[in-house]
Amino acid sequence: MADIIFKNVSFSYDATRVLENVSFVVEAGEYIGIIGPNGGGKTTALKLMLGFLKPQSGSVHLLDQAPKKVRTKVGYVPQANSYDAQFPISVLEVVLTGSLSKVGFWGMIPSSVKRRARELLEEVGLKGLEERVFGSLSGGQAQKVLIARALMCDPQILLLDEPTANIDPQSEAAIFAYLKTFKGKKTILIVMHNFDAIVKNSERVLCFQHEVSSMKPSEVCDHFAIGIYHPIGGESHE
Ligand SMILES: Nc1ncnc2c1ncn2[C@@H]1O[C@H](COP(=O)(O)OP(=O)(O)OP(=O)(O)O)[C@@H](O)[C@H]1O
Ligand SMILES: [Mg+2]
Repeated sequence: MADIIFKNVSFSYDATRVLENVSFVVEAGEYIGIIGPNGGGKTTALKLMLGFLKPQSGSVHLLDQAPKKVRTKVGYVPQANSYDAQFPISVLEVVLTGSLSKVGFWGMIPSSVKRRARELLEEVGLKGLEERVFGSLSGGQAQKVLIARALMCDPQILLLDEPTANIDPQSEAAIFAYLKTFKGKKTILIVMHNFDAIVKNSERVLCFQHEVSSMKPSEVCDHFAIGIYHPIGGESHE
């Protein structure tokens, strides 16, 4: 059984056609880099995998089920601009929101869950920042908190939407090294615009440009050299 199956998926927001008859399969334990121009449909595809959106035609299955049914088995790191960084909540509390299903009666959080949240913060390099207001963190620190949050449910599938967009090269390398520890154990899909990091870190690349093509990381550079994202009307899409 494959972990993710898109079969003839088409999706539009009102008038905007985003995905056109897209089919692909991701096997359990694969580490996939997702690339494509701005507006190519990468974030939309992740939202279809999370069951936040439904295709107008075709089907999306995760772990052999409808996406909504397996949400607790999917960790999601949203694109940085899509959350309210000013929300008055501590770093530890943000991580804990990743395991709401484990919160007990009266909202009691088991100490084992809190311990796990602290452990994950340490693993992503944020020990000591547990009580800081989330909104006061730097962009890169906030991204690391969101990665820890996505891991709280010990997901089988991990979806990361440009997790290193605001991150300095050293922290980016640390995040990739950390994600590598899950290689083969979790299915990882990571959206990125940094081709070097994609080539170095992923086993297969899916390029979203309304349609989807699958390629080996080594092929990415060649495709890029000949203009993988064909500009429309002279306007650059990268
Ligand atoms: N909620 C929405 N309502 C209407 N149109 C939307 C909505 N979300 C996205 N779109 C449009 O759908 C298209 C695909 O957007 P999407 O966010 O999937 O692209 P992306 O590949 O993730 O791009 P980026 O690299 O900029 O993050 C874009 O043209 C975008 O403007
Ligand atoms: Mg996006």
